[in-house]
Amino acid sequence: MSTEVEAQIDQSLATLRAAFSPRFEAAAGAGGEPALREENAKILGKKGELTAILKQMGTVPGDARKRIGEKVNLLKQEVEARFEALIKTLAASKRDAELNALPFDLTLPGRAPTPRGHRHPVSSVREEVLDIFASLGFAVHDGPEIELKENNFTRLGFPPDHPATDMQDTFWTTSGTLLRTHTSNVQVRAMMSQKPPMAFVAPGAVYRRDDDVTHSPMFHQIEGFVVDEKVTFAELKGTLAEFAERLYGPGTPIRMRPSYFPFVEPGAEVDIGCVFCIQPSGTRRGCSVCKRTGWIEILGCGMIHPVVFEHCGIDPERYTGFAFGMGVERVAMLRYGIPDIRLLFENDPRFLSQF
Ligand code: PHE
Repeated sequence: MSTEVEAQIDQSLATLRAAFSPRFEAAAGAGGEPALREENAKILGKKGELTAILKQMGTVPGDARKRIGEKVNLLKQEVEARFEALIKTLAASKRDAELNALPFDLTLPGRAPTPRGHRHPVSSVREEVLDIFASLGFAVHDGPEIELKENNFTRLGFPPDHPATDMQDTFWTTSGTLLRTHTSNVQVRAMMSQKPPMAFVAPGAVYRRDDDVTHSPMFHQIEGFVVDEKVTFAELKGTLAEFAERLYGPGTPIRMRPSYFPFVEPGAEVDIGCVFCIQPSGTRRGCSVCKRTGWIEILGCGMIHPVVFEHCGIDPERYTGFAFGMGVERVAMLRYGIPDIRLLFENDPRFLSQF
C-alpha cells in the first residue's frame, strides 16, 4: 500500500519536473513577469501543486517519507532556481529594450578625457623667482593695480610733466586714478606704512599703452626692495649675481650698465650672459637673441634715491636701500625661447602644452 502511494508520488514529481520549466517559459513569454509569478504560485504557493504533493506525504510511512521528502525538496529548489533565473532574464531584456529605445547609441566608444591643464609659463617663472628670493630672506608683498598718481609717480620722483605720465603711455581712469605702470608703487606703500629694515619682492600685473611682439598692454613685473642701515651697492650686485646663477645656472655672469630711473641713484640696467649662444667652452658666440653682444638685459635697478625716502617718511641720513624690477614675461620668453609676447596671453592650448 505504502509503496503504491510512494510510486504515485514519484510519478507526480516526475511529471511536475518535466513540466515546470516549459510552463514557466510559456507564462513568461505570454504575460511577462506577472504571468510568471502566477505560474510560480500555482506550483510553489500555499495551494500549489508541489505543496499538495507534500501534503500527501502524511500518508506514507517513515522510511519512504524521508526519501520522498528529499525528492520534494530537491524539486522545490530546482523550481525556485528556474523561477529566479527567468525573473532575471526578464529584467535584463526589459532593460535592453529600454536602452535600445534611447535616442543614442550606447555602444559607441566614449570620448577620451580632455587633457589636464598645467601651469602657465608666466606662473612657473614667477614661482621660481619668488622661491629664489624667499630663500634669500625676502618676504613677498602685494599691491593694488589701480593706484594713485602719487604712489605710482610723484613720490618716486617723477616730475609732474614726465612723459611716462602722458595719456600716450599710461591708462588713466575717469576718476583720476591710474593702472599702475610698474610694481614700484609697492615700494612707496611699504615705506609709508612700515619701518626699516625691509626686504621683500612684490609680483603683479602692470599696464602700459604698448602693443607689439615684445610689449603687451598688460604684463607682469617682480619688484625687489631692501632698506636698512648701511645697505650698499655691492649688496645689490651680490644679490642679483646670486639670483642670476640660481635662475639661469651656475656660472651665469651679470654685468651692470649705468641707466636712469627717477627713483634710484645710481641706477643701472643688468644684463646676464646670453643663455642662447653660450658655447661648451663657456664663451659666447653672439646670436640674434643677444644681438651679437653675448648679453641680454633682464632688469632695472639702483640705490633708492634720498628724495624718495623723504617723500615716504624715511630718514635718508640713517637709511640706504636698493630696488630692482624685472619683467616676468621677458624672463619666460628668454627661458623658453618664445619669440612673441602675445603668445603668452592668447592661452592657446597648443602653445601652452609645450611647457
Ligand atoms: N620700475 C622700473 C620699470 O618699470 C624698474 C625698476 C625698479 C628700476 C626698481 C629700478 C628700480 O621699468
